[in-house]
Amino acid sequence: MEIITWKNEFSVGVKEMDEQHKKLIGMINRLIKEQKVLTEPQTIADLLTEMTDYAQVHFRAEEYLMAEYGYEHKSEQEKQHQEFIDKTIAFYSASDLGPNLLSTALLDYLRTWLIGHILKEDMKYKDFFKSKGLS
Ligand SMILES: [Fe+2]
Repeated sequence: MEIITWKNEFSVGVKEMDEQHKKLIGMINRLIKEQKVLTEPQTIADLLTEMTDYAQVHFRAEEYLMAEYGYEHKSEQEKQHQEFIDKTIAFYSASDLGPNLLSTALLDYLRTWLIGHILKEDMKYKDFFKSKGLS
């Protein structure tokens, strides 16, 4: 599976959010790379936990800004964020910590969700936060 390459079109115009998105992309890319080298199940489990923990930190930061500035699509964002965490955990729990832990289906989900979420949902707040003077 191809890793995610950051492009300028991913920028949501808020530096802190772009940095967090880049870090999250880096963590998902690490998982994509680990699949190829068939790392120890425990390493994969640790990387997955680290990624979901960081995703939650990022989502809380994003939601905090949305609450602070009264962003109208905040509840839709919260719903999507929670869905991402729930599905990732469900994928993870369904696995048996065996060699198939890092399934292609899971990686494909992480990759597709993050790119889609940034480009569709997060992009909607770009002009909003810009109008509030955030950069
Ligand atoms: Fe988001």
